[in-house]
Amino acid sequence: MTWTQIFPGVYEGIPGEQQEETELELYVRLSNIPIETMKTHRLETWQHRSSESWWPQIKQYADGSYNRPFLTFLGTVGTGKTHMAFAIGWAWLARSRSVLYYQVENLLDALRRGYSSWQKGDSDGYYTILQFTQNTELLILDDFGAQHETEWATSKLDQIVDYRYIHKKPLIATTNLALDRLPARIGDRLSEGVLVHLAGESFRKKQKASDKE
Ligand SMILES: Nc1ncnc2c1ncn2[C@@H]1O[C@H](COP(=O)(O)OP(=O)(O)OP(=O)(O)O)[C@@H](O)[C@H]1O
Ligand SMILES: [Mg+2]
Repeated sequence: MTWTQIFPGVYEGIPGEQQEETELELYVRLSNIPIETMKTHRLETWQHRSSESWWPQIKQYADGSYNRPFLTFLGTVGTGKTHMAFAIGWAWLARSRSVLYYQVENLLDALRRGYSSWQKGDSDGYYTILQFTQNTELLILDDFGAQHETEWATSKLDQIVDYRYIHKKPLIATTNLALDRLPARIGDRLSEGVLVHLAGESFRKKQKASDKE
């Protein structure tokens, strides 16, 4: 089956065009997780720093045996938040669980585009994306706080986070900001989940320095 992306993260299939994909291939394609990170951004490739008391909780979450459905990675740039989010996403995909990854700003863009074409009666892409964010077993929202804040954007994010909160469905969030700097209703819901603070120097800078050596 050939899949055409009609909106970021929303695919339409043309049956009979190619060989059927396996369930895993389909889940990977629908997840939005860049395929290029399949080998690099894994729990197995994580280089441990000194005190990582949160590691057992992460392993549990990756295995699907979490206590709290919300998990948030906080920290300055390059500290591995996206790496961790992808790594857990890959672990869920390997167990044939559906995953949906979006950078917050890209999700809002996709919703905005879907919303305006829906208003013109063109497509139901807007609701399809919203349903994906609700139905996927694991939702990953990367870079909270980096989005362009508007009332509409805040209310859409609130709607998505609150749906998953009410239904106790797993959500991984990442942010550069302290939770009290996010919109209050979102920050408060995230703060009830597991919080992992990643600290230290940017891994990107460190990597570049060691490449030079
Ligand atoms: N502990 C680590 N072990 C191995 N690789 C790491 C580690 N921390 C970060 N990296 C790598 O460093 C790069 C930057 O990490 P990442 O993109 O996850 O940072 P980030 O916290 O999401 O940054 P930003 O806030 O800028 O989005 C990636 O290539 C990632 O795989
Ligand atoms: Mg990141």
